[in-house]
Amino acid sequence: MIPNRRHIVLGVTGSIAAVKAAALARLLVGAGHDLRAIQTAASLHFIGPAALASLSGHPVATQMFGEEADATFAHIDLARSDLLVIAPATANTIGKMAAGIADNLLLATYLAADCPVVVAPAMNHHMWHHPAVRDNVALLAQRGAVIIPPGTGQLACGEVGDGRMAEPDLIFRRIQEVLGVKFTGDLDGVRVLVTAGGTREPIDSVRFITNRSSGKMGFALAEAAYSRGAEVTVIAANCNLAQKQGIRYVNIVTSEEMHAALEKEIDAADVLFMAAAVSDYKVSGMQTMGKLERKDKIDLQLIPTRDIVSSLGKNNISGLKVGFAAEFGTANLERARQKLRQKHLDMIVFNDISRPDIGFESDENEITIMTGDGRDVFVSKASKEECAHRIIDQVAATLS
Ligand code: C5P
Repeated sequence: MIPNRRHIVLGVTGSIAAVKAAALARLLVGAGHDLRAIQTAASLHFIGPAALASLSGHPVATQMFGEEADATFAHIDLARSDLLVIAPATANTIGKMAAGIADNLLLATYLAADCPVVVAPAMNHHMWHHPAVRDNVALLAQRGAVIIPPGTGQLACGEVGDGRMAEPDLIFRRIQEVLGVKFTGDLDGVRVLVTAGGTREPIDSVRFITNRSSGKMGFALAEAAYSRGAEVTVIAANCNLAQKQGIRYVNIVTSEEMHAALEKEIDAADVLFMAAAVSDYKVSGMQTMGKLERKDKIDLQLIPTRDIVSSLGKNNISGLKVGFAAEFGTANLERARQKLRQKHLDMIVFNDISRPDIGFESDENEITIMTGDGRDVFVSKASKEECAHRIIDQVAATLS
């Protein structure tokens, strides 16, 4: 017997999020589970049965009766599983589950199932907030179903709100928890702290000095670490990006707030990714309340901020510290190496901000990962997600 292998039934219903069921199936099979999929007729408009059949290695069950000759008791066989997950679950399916209606194979399997049930709803946000759906979801939860609420963002209908099915890796991790199976990512249980975005240094109540950092690299690192099993906290400085369920976000604005948040969080971290662009200067004597009046000339005096990561290094923080050096041109590679030493870092990631196609605000990056022992790992132009995974490969190797 394979130690952590369980029999799981994945029910897929008719929502655009059905396309995400394939990613969930891949994670479940990848973790060693035996997976069987049931698709409702409506779901077949969004994803054909071949996708989940090839991922699971079993034909996809779609109907109670008819051509699937031995299907007469299919719902009973399927119900003898270790877990039933319905992802995505539409308002229609949730309503029928709550009412005990069994007019398709998935619903009949749900009623016959004597195992944990995990439900990941997906629908328009007005539907999600409709009192009928609220009541049905509450009833399912009261009867023991594990509900993984939808996330917020752009919905397929073009509206923005909550209703997007939770991401497959979040559903996967919840399933592993429900099954009591240890997650087997290479950052399993590692506590990761990421800073992301660009700090703002106020001039007065309405104006500030900031930089072009979008936070995309930091968020990509956080999501990659999470998908590999880490417990992740992000200290986010002014990032206009979707925040992912399962990850904890602490929103801050200024470099002083960044410092205070880090001091609070750092002791509970095994790895720090200092990806934020922290302002090097703040305004001396800035006016906290009010707005500076227009004049012929205003002199702003800028004074250095505290170099946060250096000050943490001096405190002998036990975790691994990874810094980022945004430098103008590859001629400055050695400057990044100096920062590795000066800032007491274990690793530094160099990226060239002279190129418009990578780095700031872009979805792509090209990086050189430098470690204290002089080994450089070059990652040629790739998505920030890919770069994040390559950085985490180095961190995972160091930790092990
Ligand atoms: O700006 P600089 O190139 O020195 O940034 C290198 C690293 O130092 C980055 O990881 C950045 O987050 C960190 N840093 C910091 N505090 C500052 C400025 C930068 O921790 N005031």
